[in-house]
Amino acid sequence: MSADLVHPSLLYRNLYVSVLNQKGIALQATIPAGLDRKEADLYRHLDPERLPKHIAIIMDGNGRWARRRHMPRIAGHRAGVAAVRSTVETAARIPIPALTLYAFSEENWKKRPKSEVDFLMRLLGRYLKMEVPRLNKNNIRLEYIGRQQELPESVQERMEWARRSTETNTGMVLTLALNYSARTELVDAFRSLVQAAAHNGGIDHLHVDEEAIGRHLYTKHLPDPDLVVRTSGEMRLSNFLLWQLAYAEIYVTPTLWPDFRGHHLLEGIAEYQKRERRYGGLNDNHAHHLVSETARG
Ligand code: FPP
Repeated sequence: MSADLVHPSLLYRNLYVSVLNQKGIALQATIPAGLDRKEADLYRHLDPERLPKHIAIIMDGNGRWARRRHMPRIAGHRAGVAAVRSTVETAARIPIPALTLYAFSEENWKKRPKSEVDFLMRLLGRYLKMEVPRLNKNNIRLEYIGRQQELPESVQERMEWARRSTETNTGMVLTLALNYSARTELVDAFRSLVQAAAHNGGIDHLHVDEEAIGRHLYTKHLPDPDLVVRTSGEMRLSNFLLWQLAYAEIYVTPTLWPDFRGHHLLEGIAEYQKRERRYGGLNDNHAHHLVSETARG
């Protein structure tokens, strides 16, 4: 076992630790490079073999964060950018293959004051310009879900530029949900299914099953999330990935989004690893019991 502390700023590199997996077998885990001390301490207790393949996050609480400081709501959104950066980079480092952030819902677009929506659009544009070099440095590929065509043209152009600037990266896929609604996604998927059938011999060729629907969702490039995180203590899915979250574990933290950092994500993953995922079946003990009872007749 070797511990190799490489940087005075508390960054760890190639630090080997033992972690017990579910069966109690010791695994040799490497602390990924770039984690700070707090993150490394949390990572050490995780089973690297059971990290979620896809984490979805409902970023919430920017307004409350600002109100508590007697600041305008937009100050909360501005502070939220640091939380996005920390979360994205920690997720990419450990590594999580896919991270999806609910940045802007269709309802936000329709129900918030124009001044706030305009600010969010400018913030997104600035974020993309600023972050592309960091995304490239961290080998992160950027994608989007939502009705992009309804966003301002200048934002769409910036989004396309950022997507293309990161498209050859092979690490984590970061998907931003922008002007996103899960119900609208399903409407668009059904329309797309019907259109595909129309181009392929007509409605008699319409074949609908779960796989077919999945292929027409905005998230066709992603596995379903294993874990959904919501900040600010709210217990709702708010029209986010309703189809894809069917079997996801839900982790709600009282932390407001602007205060959320990589170590909070690792706390969520630790909680996820304590859960037993059954997908509607029985756990191993129950299943074993049932098999023995059946064998006994
Ligand atoms: C929810 O807080 C947050 C949003 C609607 C916007 C999310 C935007 C960011 C995190 C900032 C930047 C992100 C990117 C990707 C550039 P809220 O306003 O609903 O908070 P409240 O419930 O406390 O009012």
